Amino acid sequence: MRVDQLTTPALLVDLDRLDANISTMGAAWPGARLRPHVKAFKSTELARRLAQHGHRGFCCATVREMEGMAAAGLGDDLLLANEVLDTARLGALVEAGARVTVAVDSSPTIDAAAAGGVREVLIDVNVGLPRCGCSPDDAGRLADEARAAGLAVRGVMGYEGHLVGLEDRAAREAGVAEAMALLATAHDAVGGEVVSGGGTGTWDSNRWITELQAGSYLLMDTAYGRLGLPFEPALTLAATVISVNRPGGWGVADVGLKALGMDHGNPSIVDRPRAKVWFCSDEHLTFGLKDAGEVDVGSRIRVQPAHVDPTVAYHERLQVVRGDEVVDTWAVDLRGW
Ligand SMILES: Cc1ncc(COP(=O)(O)O)c(C=O)c1O
Repeated sequence: MRVDQLTTPALLVDLDRLDANISTMGAAWPGARLRPHVKAFKSTELARRLAQHGHRGFCCATVREMEGMAAAGLGDDLLLANEVLDTARLGALVEAGARVTVAVDSSPTIDAAAAGGVREVLIDVNVGLPRCGCSPDDAGRLADEARAAGLAVRGVMGYEGHLVGLEDRAAREAGVAEAMALLATAHDAVGGEVVSGGGTGTWDSNRWITELQAGSYLLMDTAYGRLGLPFEPALTLAATVISVNRPGGWGVADVGLKALGMDHGNPSIVDRPRAKVWFCSDEHLTFGLKDAGEVDVGSRIRVQPAHVDPTVAYHERLQVVRGDEVVDTWAVDLRGW
């Protein structure tokens, strides 16, 4: 099938660009040094491709992602890099033979892990992002508590999410050094061999961790595109122009905010780089016609999202393409909770 025969909006993955991104990252972070985050793509088919390249440990953000990965035979070493209280479902995965590690940052999350049948944890440390993670000086106490509850403590994690998107490279690097000093202090108190953290934006500046948790690098988005990273934009949406208002000077395509993660801003029309996106509404993208070139009702356009993770989560499938040919279809099978 050809891309222009797909029902729109359709989520497209450029296979050659995806493979280039896998290779670029894999050269710097080979094998188990990389723990790709499945939250960015939510597809066991894509995860399988990473496993074929030697990355067999994964990060997940939800219990559903953990379950789907284990069911797909990708449960060698799954880290739920997030706090969770409904741990019985994780215990069931352990019983079924998956290796499950969960992030904990408090007594209730430690108790829940032990009660649910989880056997291994990482102490999640706050390194500057106001989200999950204990204070660095509380990490040792929590590790002792976890061990007393019968849990194996593999080490620490600390995600510097407040830094990964900084466009100023020097500021990003200085921030990472500071954040990772906090994580190192916590690690001294906790012990264990794992120091997990990092993301796409800090892939080459975070030298303190034992494993990198990046995910966006595989498909990329326009927000990360601004950082000048060596990863190629592999994700676009095919859309159809459904209305043209020549006197008003605008066109409308059938890709709105129900098909696009918008928290990092408007998407870009990549095959008409001078076209200005005005706004998105539920089912519509409105753009200025002035610099858009020849556009008619029925024209196909290609749009790149500003934020990959929520965009993928809106879709049931990824159409895998080479040029204009659709060569495969991968289910986005890790959605939901
Ligand atoms: C805990 C955690 N680790 C790592 C990442 C890295 O993701 P990215 O590759 O998008 O920078 C994220 C993204 O939100 C995250 O939440």
